[in-house]
This record gives sequence, C-alpha cells and structure tokens, in this order.
Amino acid sequence: MKNNKKILISEFINQNSLENLNKKFDVKYDQKLCENKIELETIIKDYDCLIVRNKTQVNSNMLKKALKLKFIGRLGVGLDNIDIEYCKNNNIHVQPATGMNADSVAEYVVSSSMSLIKKIPMFHNGTINGEWPRTTIKSIEIKQKYLGIIGFGTIGKKVAEYSSKNGLKILAYDPYVKEINNKEIDTKLSSLNEIYEKSDIISIHLPLTDETKNMINKSSFALMKNKPIIINTSRGSIINEIDLIEAYNKNNISGFALDVFEKEPIESEFYNKIKPGMNCILTPHISGVTTESNIRVSDFIVKKITDFFN
Ligand SMILES: NC(=O)c1ccc[n+]([C@@H]2O[C@H](COP(=O)([O-])OP(=O)(O)OC[C@H]3O[C@@H](n4cnc5c(N)ncnc54)[C@H](O)[C@@H]3O)[C@@H](O)[C@H]2O)c1
Repeated sequence: MKNNKKILISEFINQNSLENLNKKFDVKYDQKLCENKIELETIIKDYDCLIVRNKTQVNSNMLKKALKLKFIGRLGVGLDNIDIEYCKNNNIHVQPATGMNADSVAEYVVSSSMSLIKKIPMFHNGTINGEWPRTTIKSIEIKQKYLGIIGFGTIGKKVAEYSSKNGLKILAYDPYVKEINNKEIDTKLSSLNEIYEKSDIISIHLPLTDETKNMINKSSFALMKNKPIIINTSRGSIINEIDLIEAYNKNNISGFALDVFEKEPIESEFYNKIKPGMNCILTPHISGVTTESNIRVSDFIVKKITDFFN
C-alpha cells in the first residue's frame, strides 16, 4: 500500500530506483526543475520530501516556503548547495549518499593521475597534429612517487587505498583525523606544508566550507617543489582557478585534472585559457557519476526515505 507522503525530485535519478519509490509514495519527478527556481519555490510547500543532486539551490528562501518538508535526500555527498543550519533548526533531516560514489571518484583520480604523469594529453595532441612527439616529450612512472591527499574522509581514504596498490607513497592532511586505524591504508598523516613540498601528485577531497574556500592559491603553489600534478574532484572554489593556470604557465605545476569548477558549466573566460597541448584534463563534474554509482546512490536514498517515513 502507498504511503501518503509526497516526494519531489528535481534532478536525475536512476530509473529503477524511481520506479521503486513510485510504488511506495506519491512522486513528482522533473529533472529540469533544478533550473526553474520560481516553479520550485511555488510547489515546494506541498512536499514532505525533496531529492536533489548539486544543482538545486536549497537555500533559506526556498526552505521558508517548504512548510511540510521533513527530509532532503542528496544524490551525492557535497552539501554546499543546502542550507544545513536552517535544516537543523527546523527539524529537516538531510541525508547525503555517503560513500556511494567513492569508488567512481577514486577511479577518476587514479586514471587522471596516471594519464597526466605520463603526459598522455600532450602526446595525444602532438600525435593528432602530425608531430610524432616520441622523443620531445618526457614522461615518468608513478611508482614510488608521493601522492598528497588533502581531506582524508571517505573519498580521500579510498584514493589512498587504490593508489598505494599502484606503488605510490601516500601523505594525507586532515586536521580532523588524529590517527589512521586501518592498517591497510598505508598513509602518513602530514602537515599541509609537507604535502606541498614533497608531493608529485596532489588530490583534493574537501567539503566546500568558509574554511576551505580558496584554500589552494598562489601562496600554496609557491611552496610546491616537485612541480606536482593537481587533481580536484571536490569543489571548484577550493582552488583559485586563476592562480592554478598561472602556476601551470610558470611551470610550478606540471599538469592538472579538474572535474569541478567555480562556475559550472564553465564560461569562456575560463576555458579560453586552456590551450591544446597543455597537460590537463577537464571534465564536467562527472567523477562521481558512473552507471554503477548512480544505481548505488539512488537506491541508498530511496531506502533511507522508505525507512524514514515508515
Ligand atoms: N566531483 C564529484 O562528482 C564528487 C563526488 C563526490 C564527492 N565530491 C566532493 O568531494 C568532497 C569529499 O567527499 P567525501 O565523501 O570524502 O567527504 P567526507 O566528509 O567523508 O570527507 C571530507 C574530509 O575533509 C576533511 N576536512 C574538512 N575541512 C578540512 C580542512 N579545512 N582541511 C583539511 N581537511 C578538512 C574532513 O575532516 C573529512 O575527513 C565532498 O564534500 C564533495 O564536495 C565530488
């Protein structure tokens, strides 16, 4: 029998998970609703539950109109698009899909760090331009290189686990982690400066907060001694993008993979700075989105909603 609770979904969800939810609740699904703030703010008053990804801005303006709302399901993990403080004060439960896309992100970090340390984007560009750059571009191996992980939570740990299997030495910075209990994650807790000084690859796995905004900037790049590869799959605003491009152009870093950006989709002001032949990989916020993770994330949130309302 159907529960009478009403659920609104404003971004894409896995089809099977949606069908399961439909059997149990009264569901409205419109994956373009995240782009229509006015419509969303008009109809939200009728719903007990809202399911979003990262495009729906769940701010206090919207929440003030959500008089029946008791549960927000986040199909992913970053909560920077949701006013958590308002939710806490108004008894609205916010449920991220913790860990459900960690494997996808870790695979992205491993594959992009491998590609960039081997200069694959540069070889590709030279080859398709008829230059055959077999001896002009030098690449190196990943084994025994230092990987610095900034933010050692669910994804940071998964990246450490995957990368140590490829022979990397792992350093991690996270002031909220006092010790590493899992012996299988062979990682040394380090200061931020040690990471900047020693790393050949730096991967960022932080939430976007007042503390982490613009955390990696000109002064951080100046401390990087080994011209590392920079990988950001967390949130764009954590790295200063202008300083990053400048650091690359000055040869302070030797490549970068960005899956997240200060403005998404990226604008010409930014992408015009990216030239063919640069050792970089840019992707449209997909590191956590694979067929498998979409199923895991969606099923997880559907189960949490079912438990919550039954
Ligand atoms: N691109 C994508 O598709 C994608 C997918 C999943 C997650 N993400 C992003 O990755 C982030 C990390 O995800 P997670 O599941 O590992 O989160 P998590 O909460 O498990 O881990 C975050 C870690 O960062 C640490 N931290 C917080 N503030 C810090 C600071 N100032 N300095 C150093 N460390 C600090 C925390 O102690 C925590 O251990 C998310 O917040 C999200 O924004 C992106």
